[in-house]
Amino acid sequence: MSKTIGVVGAGTMGNGIAQVAARAGYTVVLRDMKSDFLERGMKAIDRSLQRDVDKERLGAEEKTKIINRIRTTTEWSDLADADFVIEAITESIEAKTEVFRALDKIVQKEAILASNTSSISITKLAATTRRPDKVIGMHFMNPVPVMKLVEIVRGIQTSDKTDAETRRLVEEFGKTGLDCNDSPGFVSNRVLMPMINEAIFTLYEGVATRESIDGIMKLGMNHPMGPLALADFIGLDVCLAIMNVLHQELGDPKYRPCPLLRRYVDAGWLGRKTGRGFYEYNEQ
Ligand code: CAA
Repeated sequence: MSKTIGVVGAGTMGNGIAQVAARAGYTVVLRDMKSDFLERGMKAIDRSLQRDVDKERLGAEEKTKIINRIRTTTEWSDLADADFVIEAITESIEAKTEVFRALDKIVQKEAILASNTSSISITKLAATTRRPDKVIGMHFMNPVPVMKLVEIVRGIQTSDKTDAETRRLVEEFGKTGLDCNDSPGFVSNRVLMPMINEAIFTLYEGVATRESIDGIMKLGMNHPMGPLALADFIGLDVCLAIMNVLHQELGDPKYRPCPLLRRYVDAGWLGRKTGRGFYEYNEQ
């Protein structure tokens, strides 16, 4: 039974996961490299919870209790007592491997290490630790407080016990865990990212304007957001990282990232988080 949840990474996904875990009643230790990343993450949690307070779905005192369950730190050692740790850092196998190696040395031997990776092999990450049976994929969707799905991904060494404990935690978080095997992009991004990449190709080839492309998919397919707006929401760097994993790991040219996506990432136009992607965003 997990009592303290560690979350590594206070960015969009990490702070959302910390919020959901704290709201489920868990003590949360939220770790990131720099204090200002942690401050930004805690501000995002405050804003997100305030939405529910404003809509009278959450009392102001309850909001304070939730926030007080989250302890922020830049120190790895503060994660030592966590029974379950969820890594939610940048989509880079090198960076994730460093985190798993560090965690493996610090947390109790019974602790489970989960990754929120969008596409990287759980089996590979598990092999960098001395506890491959206790490593699993817990792939949340953005925005974490709202989206019900958690994709549960077992590496080939993940034990049934780890799977069961993870499933129980997903339910405690009020989410729905659905299984998929350890394959590049799992199901969510194996299907979603090529669709977003194709939308970027239609813009790149001048098939339609960004407004038309998004409008056609919203009005025609009832998508809540158009694919270009969704790419801006996810982060164009994240979209490119996932397309690169699909292209390299599956070896099929159909997964080649659109040149326009590369160019935008090269320009630092990463979407909402930088104020500019396929659209321009004022609030920064
Ligand atoms: N925190 C808390 N609540 C939030 C929120 C946040 N960050 N963002 C939106 N909400 C809530 C709002 O409060 C509102 O709640 P109620 O309707 O219950 O009052 C509800 O969500 C709808 O929000 P809005 O009215 O502001 O706007 P919207 O109707 O356009 O919904 C959205 C926003 C939920 C993001 C919706 O546009 C949507 O579902 N978009 C698609 C998101 C998606 O596909 N996510 C998965 C991407 S893939 C991924 O994340 C994984 C990966 O590996 C990249």
